[in-house]
Amino acid sequence: MNDSNAAEPVATNPYTFCEHDMEYARIAPIMGRLWSPIAAVTSNWQGKSNAQIAVAIAAASIVPDMPRVLLQIYKNNYSHDLIYNSGSFALNFIRRDQLQLIKDFGLVSGRDTDKLSDVGHVFRETGSPILDDCWGFLDCRVVNAMDGGDMTCFLADVLEGETLTQAEPLYWRDARREIPAEWNEEWDRKITGEIEVSKQRMPNIDLKPWLPTGQES
Ligand SMILES: Cc1cc2nc3c(=O)[nH]c(=O)nc-3n(C[C@H](O)[C@H](O)[C@H](O)COP(=O)(O)O)c2cc1C
Repeated sequence: MNDSNAAEPVATNPYTFCEHDMEYARIAPIMGRLWSPIAAVTSNWQGKSNAQIAVAIAAASIVPDMPRVLLQIYKNNYSHDLIYNSGSFALNFIRRDQLQLIKDFGLVSGRDTDKLSDVGHVFRETGSPILDDCWGFLDCRVVNAMDGGDMTCFLADVLEGETLTQAEPLYWRDARREIPAEWNEEWDRKITGEIEVSKQRMPNIDLKPWLPTGQES
C-alpha cells in the first residue's frame, strides 16, 4: 500500500446488531459444539515469543495440498499484535494430560510473564514456537485477516505440521470437568469481564484491508 492509500479515511461499516428476543440457551448446544479442540497458539514477533489458548479454530480449505485454517484472536490479547504484525502463528493442539497449559497459557497474559521460558520448543518454517510436547501442531502463515470489532479472524496457510499421537485431543467442555474448581472460577471471572469489553467493541468493525508489518508501504 502506498502513502496516499494510508492517508485515506478508513471505511466505516453501517453495521448494527439485529434485535432479537431469542434466548441463548436455545442455541447453546449448537454454539458450544463449534469450538475446536484446545490449542496453544504460539507466536513470535521482533524476538518476543508468546503462547495463548484458543478454541476458535476451523479448517478452511478443501484442497489437501493447500491446507488452510481460520483462527480468531481477541484484540486484548498480547498474542494478537504478535500474530497481526508477524503474519504467522502455530497451533499446538494439547493432549488430555496437559491441563496445566490451560492455566499457564490461557489465564494469564504474556504481557506479565514469559510463558514459554520453561516450555520446550523449537522454531521451524514461520518462526513461531512449536512445542516439543503436544497432540499435534500446524505451523501457519497468515494470508488475510478480517476485523470483527473485538477480535481479528486470521485466514492462514498451513506450511508444515505433524500429528504426534493417535489419542483423542482435548476439548474445553471435557477439560472444564477435569480442571480444579479455582481455575474454573478464575476463567468465569475473566470471561465475564471480557464479554463486557466485546459488547462495546463488536459493532466497531474496521473494513481496512490487512497487511502485515513490513508490507505497509
Ligand atoms: C479454554 C480457553 C479457550 C480460549 N479460546 C480463545 C480463543 O479462541 N481466542 C482468543 O483470542 N482467546 C481465547 N482464550 C483466551 C486467551 O487464551 C487468554 O485471554 C490469554 O490469557 C491471552 O494471553 P496473551 O495475552 O498472552 O495473548 C481462551 C482461553 C481458554 C482458557
